[in-house]
Amino acid sequence: MAVIRVALAGRAYDVVIEPGLLSRTGSAAARFLASYAGGRKVPFVADENTHRLYAAGVESDLAAHGLAAEWFVVAPGEDAKTWRVLEALTDWLLALGVTRSDHVFALGGGVVGDLVGFACAIAKRGCGFVQIPTTLLAQVDSSVGGKTAINTKAGKNLIGAFHQPALVLIDPLVLETLPEREMRAGFAEVVKYGLLGDAAFFDWLEVNSNKVLAREPAALEHAIATSIAMKAAIVAEDERETQDRRALLNLGHTFGHALEAETGFSDRLLHGEAVALGMVLAARYSARRGELSSADADRATGAIAAAGLPANLPSLGLACDGAQLVDHMRHDKKAEGTTLPFLLLKGIGTAYVARDVDLADIAAFLDIELVA
Ligand code: GLY
Repeated sequence: MAVIRVALAGRAYDVVIEPGLLSRTGSAAARFLASYAGGRKVPFVADENTHRLYAAGVESDLAAHGLAAEWFVVAPGEDAKTWRVLEALTDWLLALGVTRSDHVFALGGGVVGDLVGFACAIAKRGCGFVQIPTTLLAQVDSSVGGKTAINTKAGKNLIGAFHQPALVLIDPLVLETLPEREMRAGFAEVVKYGLLGDAAFFDWLEVNSNKVLAREPAALEHAIATSIAMKAAIVAEDERETQDRRALLNLGHTFGHALEAETGFSDRLLHGEAVALGMVLAARYSARRGELSSADADRATGAIAAAGLPANLPSLGLACDGAQLVDHMRHDKKAEGTTLPFLLLKGIGTAYVARDVDLADIAAFLDIELVA
């Protein structure tokens, strides 16, 4: 078991990582369930899959604590992050009589967590919520740090709020049912932590990625705990991404976002897969600038490829050129005027924000990478 504190003044919270934790939600979240002791039902939001897999177990654990859940179940996938579903969810919370001191429970992947977090940011001008992430990506990234959002016509995650959870409960055992491809996509975010700030962790991942991907308990828990510890430290230093600290968590995301946009944000390329290839491109571009050795760029590429993630652009079979990919980047929410901060590498474990990147040079680089 590991408990990692996200040390934010006035709203610090714990991330608890423990196999079997989901079936002990009643005791693990006791503090945040107390307001329901009078007989009101505990609001739980899940998607159809997490509801089918885990609702009965959660219900019986809550019953042992004299509590019962009321469920709001959304369809799986990004379509749940819409104004329409947000409206239905907030109406449901208000109908349940949720108060500012209540906590809503989000049981699912990043979509459920982002949706519930945003609903709780605005319901009654802010009520509490507890994250119970069920995908590797949500466990190591989106459930911690308080970024919440929905998608709109203009793009993904453009409407949202910073709203920190009160508690994050991570049960690595739930990953046993996670589809292989999603497991690998989540693993990209784990590699991200090694690349951006922890060379020793990257060394460990090079040796142990197979164990993590095979869901070996000790390796998996170590990978999740190390990732969360780094994210917690970064979020505590720069909660709202106003300094360059939290921006480091976007390593691979600017290239990745362009690839996701080019593939229509579809199953053709999952977010984690786009980030994986985005990190390869960031490493290779850093080498092109002479800031990263080609040996280290090869190591970054090798770790991504060894995890069965896309590690070169031709493998995507895109029918576009570098300029078209750069066009997608201009719509990135991190774009400021005509420039875009790029997350680049000076070494394995040393990422930094480059503000002097010429987008024409990025397009030329991508033209080479597209046929390499
Ligand atoms: N996923 C990046 C962040 O939380 O800042």
